[in-house]
Amino acid sequence: MCGIIAIISQNQPVSERIISGLKRLEYRGYDSSGVATITPEGTIDVRRAVGKIASLQALVEQLPLTGKIGIGHTRWATHGAAVEDNAHPHSNGRVAVVHNGIIENFAELRRELEQKDHVFSSQTDTESIVHLITDFLDQGMRPEQAMKETLAHLEGAFGIAVLFQGEELIIGARKGSPLAVGLGDTEMYLGSDALGLAPFTDQMVYLEEGDWVILRDNSYQIFNAQSEPVERAKTLIAANNMSLAKDGFAHFMLKEIFEQPSVVGQTLSNCLDPHSRLPDFSGLNLPRIEPFQRLNIIACGTSYLAAMVAKYWLESLTDIHVNVDIASEFRYRRTPFVNGGVAVFISQSGETADTLAAMTHAKENGQFCIAVVNVATSSMARLADAVILTDAGAEIGVASTKAFTCQLVVLAAFTVFIALQHGSVTLEQGQQFVEELTHIPSQIQDQLHHKEELQQLAQAYLVHARDILYIGRGAHYPIALEGALKLKELSYIHAEGFPAGELKHGPIALIDQDVPVIVLAPFGPLFDKTISNAFEVAARGAKVILVTDKQGKSAVERMGQQQFTLFEVSTAGTFSSPLLCAIPMQLMAYYTALLKGTDVDQPRNLAKSVTVE
Ligand code: G6P
Repeated sequence: MCGIIAIISQNQPVSERIISGLKRLEYRGYDSSGVATITPEGTIDVRRAVGKIASLQALVEQLPLTGKIGIGHTRWATHGAAVEDNAHPHSNGRVAVVHNGIIENFAELRRELEQKDHVFSSQTDTESIVHLITDFLDQGMRPEQAMKETLAHLEGAFGIAVLFQGEELIIGARKGSPLAVGLGDTEMYLGSDALGLAPFTDQMVYLEEGDWVILRDNSYQIFNAQSEPVERAKTLIAANNMSLAKDGFAHFMLKEIFEQPSVVGQTLSNCLDPHSRLPDFSGLNLPRIEPFQRLNIIACGTSYLAAMVAKYWLESLTDIHVNVDIASEFRYRRTPFVNGGVAVFISQSGETADTLAAMTHAKENGQFCIAVVNVATSSMARLADAVILTDAGAEIGVASTKAFTCQLVVLAAFTVFIALQHGSVTLEQGQQFVEELTHIPSQIQDQLHHKEELQQLAQAYLVHARDILYIGRGAHYPIALEGALKLKELSYIHAEGFPAGELKHGPIALIDQDVPVIVLAPFGPLFDKTISNAFEVAARGAKVILVTDKQGKSAVERMGQQQFTLFEVSTAGTFSSPLLCAIPMQLMAYYTALLKGTDVDQPRNLAKSVTVE
């Protein structure tokens, strides 16, 4: 979603570098951008543009900004349409503000400030911050004091950066939306995402909840929520995780799909004890989860679908009762908590507002919180009691691919770990499961070799469809949901996933010869039942693309069935089967989007990291 970059320099103009930093945040999703600097005369100069950052860049080339102190922003519209007046920075000449998040009491603040003759020029919640700070400055306060007072009046979530007319400083603040200070030799930086600051420095200080910071060109001072001066730890960020190159691929998404064999392998190996080669999470000091205890797993989007797969796995190999919840529901629903219970939160970014709030809610209710995240320095990683890292590397494509399969392999290893701990599988069975997991990277590679076949399927059946259904049973049902989610996100074609057994309770009414149905049915106990559902939709004219394995393919061939178009996945095993079925789902969605000419890496209206609820 929105992104912030700010730079205060001793000797160099900053606008160009702010824009280059914003470009590195493009992947988060945005619809307008802007930059403001303090001119050598001390005035605030603002440039804003709707659409891609290239438009802002062109504007700044035409009307250069010379200041050495500046703030920049990419905006993903929440309050007010994506027009220039609503783009950030918002400025009234005295103060300029960029803001991520939502100010919940903005309407009230705006009403009060308008009564005091403040004139607003946008529909945004952010502009109320500008006028509120100004109101305190008008009362004779210095910027630091005005900021402290302003923060005490803001409700909601925010990461903000502020410039003050005639002042050589930048003030930043965070509450519910991340912000990091970057430390340079002759400059200081502020960023909502370390990725944006990576070209400037590898030394970061992450602000904690409620912190605010004053940046000067060679120093910074952090204050906590009570405005007491505090020290926060410095973190060295790994530059190799910060690469933003497509490495010859047409899109980040395709590159990330092709990275899966290596990142899934790496993530798996991080979960295994190097000697026994069995899953080992003992270093995390997790509390023992007893049989029949309830385990909550909470997430949003694709991460939620990984949680759903984990429920099937955990309940099939252990006696743990797993409750899977969408974070935005969990955080507001009353649910009984057992004191000392365990909850797992899954998130690629570690910043999703609802998942973060759900974790806070669980902690407040005495739960031990485990974060499965891809970003070690994320807010969730810092809030959780224990962290399991996926090792997918930076995921830039808005639609999650490699982070999802890395989450799945972690959850598979976690399942085997608990099952061994409970004795619900034998050591030998545990070893066999690990053996199955270790083959997954090369089996993903095999799938990737079939990309042309998937491209042809997309061309023949998907690209011209208006509606597409995905069905599956068991752990393949969440993969059907993931297939439909990927396809709609990328190609804007209406797609839905269903449990195959639910077809007759409604969705089958949608079927006719124009609706392709993607059936996920690798061989296994539910194969025959799912194939019956495939026959039912085929009998009503649907084009069936059957995703199955070698055994499933032979079984279908023995039935003399020629109506289905088959796509073969490498294998069928408890863990490998759903994980491997995810790969053709990703590639079909990718190629359908490519054929439709949509923006694969940054689909319309979507954001990589949803930092507002
Ligand atoms: C957004 C992204 C999805 C992602 C979801 C959850 O909707 O576009 O790809 O699955 O957020 O994000 P998280 O970072 O919490 O996994």
